[in-house]
Amino acid sequence: MSPALTIRPYSEGALTQAAAKLRAGELVAFPTETVYGLGADATNDDAVAGIFAAKQRPSFNPLISHFPDRDAAARHAIFDARADKLAAAFWPGALTLVLPKRDDSTVSHLTTAGLPSIAVRVPAHDMARALLRAVGRPIAAPSANRSGRISPTTAAHVAASLGNAIGMILDGGPCGVGLESTVIDLTTDQVVMLRPGGITRDQVAQVLGCDVVMAETDDNAPKSPGMLTSHYAPGLPVRLNADAPDQKKYGHEILLAFGDCVTKGFDKVLWLSKTGDDREAAANLFAKLHEADQPRFDGIAIAPIPDTGLGLAINDRMKRASAPRALHPTP
Ligand code: TXA
Ligand code: MG
Repeated sequence: MSPALTIRPYSEGALTQAAAKLRAGELVAFPTETVYGLGADATNDDAVAGIFAAKQRPSFNPLISHFPDRDAAARHAIFDARADKLAAAFWPGALTLVLPKRDDSTVSHLTTAGLPSIAVRVPAHDMARALLRAVGRPIAAPSANRSGRISPTTAAHVAASLGNAIGMILDGGPCGVGLESTVIDLTTDQVVMLRPGGITRDQVAQVLGCDVVMAETDDNAPKSPGMLTSHYAPGLPVRLNADAPDQKKYGHEILLAFGDCVTKGFDKVLWLSKTGDDREAAANLFAKLHEADQPRFDGIAIAPIPDTGLGLAINDRMKRASAPRALHPTP
């Protein structure tokens, strides 16, 4: 059932209500200087699954985690000298940094789509920062629009696109920038622009005193899959629609189980969802994939999952994970 939608202009009371909802695992749309974000507690698997359900995204892309300041971000991401320079120059602002994720980060594997990296941003909008401070947890927030629709720069846009899927919009008037943040990948020696945005390539290059490579278009961009692809793939082979074990053919398999699937005969069983719930399975997906990916097995078998609701995104991700490695599509 869709929650009744509350649209509240900024006030102490609205902020307190929005923070309480976020801490309780609910979705709240809030303004940033770029676009409205669809926020959820980035450390809560189920809340993050709710983002994908609301946006009706057909795949799981890694999401940006938002923080009130650099030090809060540094509790989840490892900052090198380049990251600190860019943070000092552009935060708060329309810049997102992709950095190695700290081992002790509590951010959900679903937020980072199973990757060892994390995208972090400190927005420049006063209301956003006040909200982030009040929540005291990282907030995952893609643009607050249904997949494939234009990015929302007013509360009315959000309501039109997601009104029946979310409970609350914090209304801060129109966004100033209107264009999503620039995404810079610092997980390799090169500085790679993954997404152009409010802050330009030249601005970034000037601060760092080095070249900035464009991910999509540049001949200098690293081509090897896995460097830039924002897609986690387990080390073990992955078999889809596994409705029975077959040791002769597939060896010792660990099963990611769903609903009333066959579990007997597999070496080990990890449940995505015992009740066959697509949202629970989505929330568990990356954590269970990581857990299953151990060299003592020969492969990971995935039970059949219906292509409905979040099942679509789960199957999309599993198809990529099961594809021959050289064929991994880039985002
Ligand atoms: O302006 C913005 O950035 C807005 C506002 C709400 O802050 N947010 C936004 O989030 O656009 P989202 O989730 O729609 O954009 C995430 C972008 C995607 O291009 C995604 O591929 C990239 O960041 N990204 C996130 N994590 C990544 C990672 N670990 N590695 C590579 N790319 C990553
Ligand atoms: Mg978007």
